[in-house]
Amino acid sequence: MTTPQTDPEALRRRALDSLTSARDRTRLLTECVDDGELTAQHSPLMSPLVWDLAHIGNQEEQWLLRAVAGQDALRPEIDSVYDAFEHPRAERPSLPLLAPAEAHRYAGEVRGRVIDVLEGSSLRGSPLVDSAFAFGMVAQHEQQHDETMLITHQLRRGPAALAEETATPPHASLSAPEVLVPGGPFTMGTSTEPWALDNERPAHRREVPAFWMDTAPVTCAAYQEFMADGGYEDPRWWDPQGFDLVTRQGVRAPLFWRREGGVWLRRRFGATEPVPPDEPVLHVSWYEADAYARWAGRRLPTEEEWEKAARHDPATGRSSRYPWGDEEPGVEHANLGQRRLRPAPAGSYPAGRSPSGVGQLMGDVWEWTSSGFLPYPGFVTFPYREYSEVFFGGDYRVLRGGSFAVGEVACRGTFRNWDHPVRRQIFSGLRTARDARPGEDGTHVGRDR
Ligand code: AVJ
Ligand code: FE
Repeated sequence: MTTPQTDPEALRRRALDSLTSARDRTRLLTECVDDGELTAQHSPLMSPLVWDLAHIGNQEEQWLLRAVAGQDALRPEIDSVYDAFEHPRAERPSLPLLAPAEAHRYAGEVRGRVIDVLEGSSLRGSPLVDSAFAFGMVAQHEQQHDETMLITHQLRRGPAALAEETATPPHASLSAPEVLVPGGPFTMGTSTEPWALDNERPAHRREVPAFWMDTAPVTCAAYQEFMADGGYEDPRWWDPQGFDLVTRQGVRAPLFWRREGGVWLRRRFGATEPVPPDEPVLHVSWYEADAYARWAGRRLPTEEEWEKAARHDPATGRSSRYPWGDEEPGVEHANLGQRRLRPAPAGSYPAGRSPSGVGQLMGDVWEWTSSGFLPYPGFVTFPYREYSEVFFGGDYRVLRGGSFAVGEVACRGTFRNWDHPVRRQIFSGLRTARDARPGEDGTHVGRDR
């Protein structure tokens, strides 16, 4: 049977659309500030925006013009400048970077040739071109850097440069704060999703005992209760390393928050506003997420619990591509793609809920899980070690779901992100879980507590 995931013409169209919308977003992020701002380093955690821009073009050239089409390098001398492994972010401003106009011209030239390659390819015959994989990979890479550039915009000082959608997101009240996900096996990962990256493969069965999962991400109001209860000062809730860190650095609130006249304010893309109580909390580290969950008498979900709550349909036993089913994300499903520059209030996007009744799994905020970043059984590196393999087993925690800044092409029920547990400039939040008690689930029960 031909589906949009196997039909070459549908894949070609999706590749073209995905590359085009990624580039529209790249241009939006790089054309709304002047050359000084493009070449400045706004935070030692981030690259100058103009580095991301040319790196996007350079990766696209390496994979689609050189590896797929066998073309010669356009500018062989710049490869090393845009190699993320050769140069950590802090040293990128001192590299001989292409100037803004040159970087735009280079990325544009690469793209023009790529469109010709895409139009002329049979999209079969090698693992890189089968199902337009490399085109999908490159579109995802650009969207990932677009999110990175949006983080740079958030860290940047000065007035707002970006506009956002102002219409109210679809909303329905939550029927319950948490739901029971029954125990039993489910299919984790994928072997059929055409553009799934190597770390999402292969599909495999996992036995997951019954557990309870929050139906929405933890809100700012709930997080403020933890703060008001002295959560940051009480070592009982914290991983010792995290407690040491917040104590030494005097951290007492999420990043970008400050207290003024008894109210909490936050800075968001150049504007200061009261913290919105019903929105998912944003800009917390794994340590803060973990401490909040323990204070609440709960815990972070494991990565496999998160994916089961998102994809497993207890009625059919199948894992779907997205929480709402197999169709690609629409505006009714999730807050994605930087249309809004903030998470949507808890209870938004009822059409995006999973069969288990869990909402806002895709979009809004990246959700910290308790799991480290490890390969699935049967993992095979493809097409390069530096995407996933070199990070396995490092000091990372997995984040799932994706934020308001994630592009649709880089969002799936199987998608895995990871970062250091101290990171909080990313668009990170959390939801909590707890074990089911014996008898709460007829067939399989979690450990008693
Ligand atoms: C998967 C988001 C951790 O941004 O470091 C971009 C994605 N890899 N270029 C990152 C990535 C190579 C990566 N994350
Ligand atoms: Fe990259």
